[in-house]
Amino acid sequence: MTTAFIGGTGLSLIWPYEKVVDLGLGPTTFGHQSRAQIGKGLINVRGRIHAYETGSTAAMAPVYAWLVEQGIERVIISGAVGSMDASLPPGQLVEIQDHLFFGGASPLVGQANAFIDMSQAYGRGWSGLPRATYAWTHGPHLETPAEIRALKSFGGQVVGMSIPPEVILAKHHGMQVYALACVVNWAAGQGAASSIDAMLEIGRQASKALPDLVRCAMKAL
Ligand code: HPA
Repeated sequence: MTTAFIGGTGLSLIWPYEKVVDLGLGPTTFGHQSRAQIGKGLINVRGRIHAYETGSTAAMAPVYAWLVEQGIERVIISGAVGSMDASLPPGQLVEIQDHLFFGGASPLVGQANAFIDMSQAYGRGWSGLPRATYAWTHGPHLETPAEIRALKSFGGQVVGMSIPPEVILAKHHGMQVYALACVVNWAAGQGAASSIDAMLEIGRQASKALPDLVRCAMKAL
């Protein structure tokens, strides 16, 4: 099964590759490029565009359509998150087990066969990492402490602006999905604030664990 890996803020996978392709995403935010490295058994996507850059939760739809053309059936999606759970401090990598996607239109608006089942969207227990439920926010501004308390009371453990709309796009294409996130800060009101530089450095350190985690996902199922 051919696999793709999607890198996140400060999170980049080092994997052998033979060819680089431009994804045509244009200029994207810090830490993100617009390229994919094509290797044996894995396409390493180093390009990310978010709803907070374009206003559309379907911003990554062209990338997922391209991955389908490349024959990708399994995707490992990564991203940076803030923590709402005292047991998940900055620096912790987590396996995403489920999500809350409130506050944005579905990326499948206007698509055929859009009523997809999301009851088992994520691979479960493949990584050995602590598992967490991801609460999505549109951004680009960060949340207020009251918003974080609300998301926490709904069962969210980590909060971020990337992974869930992509999971919806990937499921719409019938892909198997594995997702992992790196906690880079405490969410608003949950602990000391961190600088963007500190967050990027945490992502860089956590990136060292990615090759082993990708191999775990490729062995799962
Ligand atoms: N909130 C939303 N998105 C994020 C955060 C956060 O605290 N940290 C990293 N991405």
